[in-house]
Formats: sequence, C-alpha cells, structure tokens
Amino acid sequence: MGPAAPYTNRPDYAAAQKAALDLADLLTPQSGAYYDVWLDGEKFMSAYKEDPAVTEARAFNGFGTNFENSPEPIYGAQFLPRKFKIATTVPGDNSVDLFTQDLGVVVIMDETGQQVKGYNLYVGGGQGRSHRDADTFPRLADPLGFVAKDDLLHAAKAVVCVQRDYGRRDNRKQARTRHLLAEWGIDKFRSVAEQYFGKTFQSAAPLPAWQYKDYLGWGEQGDGKLFYGVYVQNGRIKGEAKKALRAVIEKFNLPVVLTPHQNLILRDVEPAAKEEVTALLRAGGVKELVEWDGLDRLSMACPALPLCGLAVTEAERALPDVNVRIRAMLMRAGLPASQPLHVRMTGCPNGCVRPYVAELALVGDGPNSYQLWLGGGPAQTRLAQTYAERVKVKDLEATLEPLFAAWAAHRQPGEAFGDWAARQGFDTVRQQAAAAAAAAARQAPPAAAAAAAASGAK
Ligand code: HEM
Ligand code: SF4
Repeated sequence: MGPAAPYTNRPDYAAAQKAALDLADLLTPQSGAYYDVWLDGEKFMSAYKEDPAVTEARAFNGFGTNFENSPEPIYGAQFLPRKFKIATTVPGDNSVDLFTQDLGVVVIMDETGQQVKGYNLYVGGGQGRSHRDADTFPRLADPLGFVAKDDLLHAAKAVVCVQRDYGRRDNRKQARTRHLLAEWGIDKFRSVAEQYFGKTFQSAAPLPAWQYKDYLGWGEQGDGKLFYGVYVQNGRIKGEAKKALRAVIEKFNLPVVLTPHQNLILRDVEPAAKEEVTALLRAGGVKELVEWDGLDRLSMACPALPLCGLAVTEAERALPDVNVRIRAMLMRAGLPASQPLHVRMTGCPNGCVRPYVAELALVGDGPNSYQLWLGGGPAQTRLAQTYAERVKVKDLEATLEPLFAAWAAHRQPGEAFGDWAARQGFDTVRQQAAAAAAAAARQAPPAAAAAAAASGAK
C-alpha cells in the first residue's frame, strides 16, 4: 500500500507510490496463477511490465536469498508462513498506518527535496489476535534502519527472506513477522537480515511527528487540476450514491484512488467541472464532507456481519449509530461539537480496520458485545490496551460516559482522548471515571440515581 495522496507536484509522494509498486512487483508470485484466476492473465501480463531494476533485484542472489532454478526465486515451493503487509509513505504522513505493517517504508528525500536519498525501514507491526490467547497480540513495527536509494529492493527482499526462513510454520497464529520480532528483538532480527542484505542498516533518519491524513474534500493536485476525496462511510457504497459515482467517473473519465480509510479520491477533475461533479454526486445522495460528523470521518468499521465468516458480531452496520451516541456523550461531557476522536470497530479480534492503534476501539467478543481498547494515539503511533471486556453495545454509555467526563475534566488543553488515557495509565483513568460516574449519579434525578444504584454504580 502506498499513500493515496493525489498530488502531481510532490516528488516525495511520487517516490513512495513508485516504491509501493516496485515492492509489490518484486514480491508478487511469479507463477501468474493469480492473474489467470482473478484477471485476464494473458492481457494483464502483456500490458504490464515491471521496472527492469525490480527484475534484476529479484534475480540477484549474491547473499543466498534465492532458490536457484526455481520459478519462484524468493519463495521456492513453500512461500511465506503467512500474510505479509507492506506500506510506504513520506515523513509525517501516517495515512497508511505504517506501524501496523510487517514492513514499513518511509521515503527520505535529499536536501533539494527533489531526489530520493534513501528509506527508513520499520519491521514487525501487525494487528490480528485471538481472544483468550496471550500468544497472539498486536504489535508496533520497530525501526530497522536506513538504506540508500538503490538498496530498497534488496533490503526488502532480505526482510522477507528472514521471515521465510525463520517465521514459524508450526502455528499459524504465531506466523507473522511480529512474532519473530517479539521472540528475537529488533537487534537479532537486524543482524540476521544483514546477512541476507550483505550490508549493514544505517541509523534511521530523524523524522517529524506523524499525522493522520485523509485527503478528503476538494483540493489542488498541483497541475491545475483538482481532486475530490469522497468520504465513504465504512467503505460501503450502494444504491443511488453508487450510480452517481459511476456516472461521474464515466462522464469525466476520472481515475479513482482507494484510500486506506475506505474512501475514494476522484482525480484529474478540470476546475470547470467542479460544480457539476459536486451537483451530480449530491443528487445521488453522496453527502459533502461538511455534512458528516467529524467522528464519522475519523472512524472505521470492518465488514463483519453479514459479510465476513469470522465475525462474531456487528461492526459496519452498527458504527454509524454508535458514533451518534458517542457524539451525544461527548457533548454531555462538555466537549466541543468538533471534538475529534478516532474510533474503530470490528466484529472479531482479527483487526481488519487496525483497531489496536485507535484512540477508542470496539473489538467484537460475542453477540452484541465488545472489548473496549483505549490509548492509541490520534496519529496511530501507539498501541491501545484492553480497558473493558464483554461490554454490551446497548450498555456503552455506562462505561463510556464517565470516561469522557473524566477526560473532559482531567485532560491537558486540547489533549486527545487516546493521549490522555495513555499519559495517565488505566489505574488513574478508572479512578477518575468512577468519580465522574459517582458525581453524575449524585446530580441525577432520584429515579435515575436509584437506577444507577441498582445497576451497581457507586
Ligand atoms: C470480509 C472478510 C474478511 C476476512 C475473513 C478477513 C480475515 C482476516 C484475518 C484472519 C486476519 C488476521 C490475520 C493475522 O493475524 O495474521 C485479518 C487481518 C486484517 N485484515 Fe482482514 N478479513 C476480511 C476483510 C478485510 C477487509 C475488507 C480489509 C480491508 C479493507 C481487511 C484488512 C485487514 C487488516 C489491515 C488486517 C490486520 C493485519 C494484521 O494482522 O497485521 N480485512 N483479516
Ligand atoms: S475484523 Fe471484521 S472483517 Fe476482519 S475477520 Fe474480524 S469480523 Fe471479519
């Protein structure tokens, strides 16, 4: 995955997108079976040519990475123990959730800002876990180091080969790079990877703080044309909105970019067509960004029921209503109507919307029941922790309302919910939430106070 940034005048973004394509080419199975099954294999293969540098890097076997004479020089007959996710980005833009990836790549430009100098690499991030199995856990990627411009493909190959040769194959729940990193630590992983790489990794280049970016709404691409980032709630487009999008895309022949937050970016819109594009989409019921609550814009849910066979409860269909309730709670806590909060919701612990880096995650643990995870950051750079389990969705207010009240009362100016929870630690958070619940019960009318007492609130 590369950043969905639709800019034409940003060599750094262009380099990140090119790196993503090259890495995908490098590591794509060579048999072509995928294309034969899922695409018109013959057409795809003849239309698409990878960069010759990729072909060369794949074939290079100076440090014992390859299976000689195998149709799959990197994978041999075994492939990898499990899925392997890669994202590329530029400094400061964490739209790809870099730290949740098996391999994260950050493009570092030279002093002129025009040429790539090299790449910072991060390894061993991941999300999926199982309930009641402590050996499965989400993990943030560790910094592996910096590599020079021409070394990216060789370094990525080295990382993949370490996982290929040392990743566990006996237990699929522990078969991701994060499990290897957890077992070895980054120093051992780095030194083994260096043997396949044939060089040492340099210290990672210093980076500015990360931000959440989504490129929604109208913006300038940098070549006189516009882009329009369309918010798609939980990635689901249907009915008239789908027809309107299709009509606009076909009429103006617009390239479309899918974003890691399940949104769409329409590119190459002529400024003269802006009004018509907006009007056509509106007529189809595609709401403009200003009409969405900021919570919706920042939140994500996975497909879950009825689409996913692993779901134990709702996510995509439930989150819109949950967000309405969360906004009401935030308002009652006296927080501003524009207060941002990153909420993610899944129907099981596999982590498809990367919930374990959200500020507040609802992770399905039974029918209409969720674990609550708190403490991820507003730029998804920190892991959340389990705060509560088996919270029934109908009872969310009982847990969340005192939490939001405590946050409003005890946060530093402008402090995000996840930052507040992580800074204080859960013991303090629980005490403050209990105090907020008790204060609310004292102020409640007698009937509500009696109900609160009956439900165990102190
Ligand atoms: C609808 C059926 C789906 C099924 C059955 C499914 C299955 C899974 C499973 C089993 C895992 C855990 C992998 C592991 O721990 O190694 C996982 C993780 C994940 N899935 Fe899905 N998924 C589905 C849909 C999606 C969709 C639609 C997306 C993206 C839009 C997605 C993105 C992810 C991501 C980002 C992770 C976390 C990867 C990690 O563990 O690091 N999944 N999924
Ligand atoms: S997180 Fe959601 S989409 Fe992913 S496996 Fe679980 S229920 Fe399915």
